Amino acid sequence: MTEPSAAPDPGPGAAVRARGLGHRFTGTADLFTGLDFDLLPGEVVGVCGPSGCGKSTLLSILAGWLAPHSGTLEATGVERTGWVFQNPFGVPGRTALDHVVLPLLAKGLDRSAAETRADEAMADFRLEAVRDRPFRELSGGEAQRLMLARAVCSAPDLLLVDEPTAQLDLRTAATVNRTLGAIARAGTIVVIATHDPHTREACTRVLDLATAAAGGANAEGGGGGDGAGGAGPHAGAADVPGSGAAG
Ligand SMILES: Nc1ncnc2c1ncn2[C@@H]1O[C@H](COP(=O)(O)OP(=O)(O)OP(=O)(O)O)[C@@H](O)[C@H]1O
Ligand SMILES: [Mg+2]
Repeated sequence: MTEPSAAPDPGPGAAVRARGLGHRFTGTADLFTGLDFDLLPGEVVGVCGPSGCGKSTLLSILAGWLAPHSGTLEATGVERTGWVFQNPFGVPGRTALDHVVLPLLAKGLDRSAAETRADEAMADFRLEAVRDRPFRELSGGEAQRLMLARAVCSAPDLLLVDEPTAQLDLRTAATVNRTLGAIARAGTIVVIATHDPHTREACTRVLDLATAAAGGANAEGGGGGDGAGGAGPHAGAADVPGSGAAG
């Protein structure tokens, strides 16, 4: 099997560093506290935990859309951030291809070169069959994969993806996970919020918000690690290896 073609060209040396990151909304309890982590190109970092624990909230903080309630977030060399939402939206009457071509035209490619690249990215996400269909006719899973293909074509330094496999069959989900891995290896920092155990396994590292709720990651002393063996000095208690990469 060939490596997916998705090959962004991000700037060198992108990095995100979080220290003591915590968030709660006005009138709610702490969703997570005391998160310490570094994000580097080449990694696929899973943000895991039960519904409502703050995964999408953490992505919003990483995107810079939401200021954390506590702690600091520093991003260096991150010029473009790509976001693929849990509920994708597009232009109903425009074709799937038009959506993917758009960021390439914006980068200065001519229509023909943009279509060639867009076709590659769409193939990586198994979207060949819907290439010329209007967005309004796509299924939820197709629409979200389309947004992934579009995000990849904008060559982000940081790609934030919310639940990319929740609506997919196992085979399509595996393709998506493989492609996200290839994008990371090509130099993008990929962060995925997910409930899906297969997607979690496909990540190179996992931030488990279930252990970072109020008091969790803040628990002082060695007991807070919950088996996060090998956690480095900047790896918080919630920063554990992906279950598939633990060895
Ligand atoms: N703007 C807001 N104001 C107040 N509370 C909010 C706001 N946004 C989210 N919340 C609450 O914060 C909690 C975390 O929400 P978030 O969307 O981050 O969860 P999640 O882990 O992504 O859940 P899911 O797995 O269901 O997508 C939820 O209880 C939600 O209701
Ligand atoms: Mg969410």
